[in-house]
Order: sequence, then C-alpha cells, then structure tokens
Amino acid sequence: MAEKQMGQTFDKLARDIQESLLEGYSEKFKSEFLNPKNIGKIEDPDCCVSITGVCGDTIEMSLSIDKGRISDIKFMTDGCGATISCASFVTRTAKGKSIEEALLITQDDVDRYFEGLPDEHKHCAKLAVMTLTAALEQYVGKSGE
Ligand code: FES
Repeated sequence: MAEKQMGQTFDKLARDIQESLLEGYSEKFKSEFLNPKNIGKIEDPDCCVSITGVCGDTIEMSLSIDKGRISDIKFMTDGCGATISCASFVTRTAKGKSIEEALLITQDDVDRYFEGLPDEHKHCAKLAVMTLTAALEQYVGKSGE
C-alpha cells in the first residue's frame, strides 16, 4: 500500500475510533473534549491541590488569585475524556469569578451544560468541582480571606 493511502486509512481509523468513543455525548461535550482549555500548571500558584476521585483518577488544579478573583486557573489530570471535559468547563467557568462566585459552581451545573453526562461519568463532574472547591478552601485557609 502506498504511504499516502496508508496515511488516509489511518486518519479514517482514528476518526472512526474518536466518533465511536464520543457516541452518546452532546455536541458541547465533544467540542470541549476536542478543544480543552486551561490545561497545565501555574508556576508559583496561590493555591494548588490534587484530588483523587472514587475511580482512582486524579485532577490537580493550580490557581492565581488577585484581589479576591481567580485571575488564572489550570488543571492536569490522568483521568478519562469526561474528566478532561469537566475540568476544562469548570476552570473556564471559574476564571474571572470571585472566590464566593466560584464556590457556587456545582456538579449539576456541569451536568446540565453537557446536557447530561452518562451515569458512569457523572462522578467526573463531581471530581472537577470538588477539586476547585478544595483549592479555594486551601486559599481561604492560607490567606484568611
Ligand atoms: S472516570 Fe474517573 S474521573 Fe472520569
């Protein structure tokens, strides 16, 4: 098989696998998964926590806080695609908000935004929100705000 043909076959296979993995998820979920935001780690953050969920997957979030507002937020995870999408949504929703506003983000908000996560991935939304909450609580505890 010519190299170009093999490349096209591989591209189609990769597309088919991706489509079958994302079957049953909303368009909003697919778009977040394919283009996640805020991946990485802030150097010298104001707070940083790692939380491991019931499934054994971990999310780490690091935040910069400026005058009571989240000026930057990043995450890393070894979790599934749903974890990436949920953490991406939670971090971009929290960015720019005050600590009090960000603490109001709930698992239901994530689930609603993605038009209902499959039952076996609802805990991914919970893990993303728990990680944000723990990071903010760490900051409040440290700073006394
Ligand atoms: S399967 Fe563990 S957080 Fe998604």
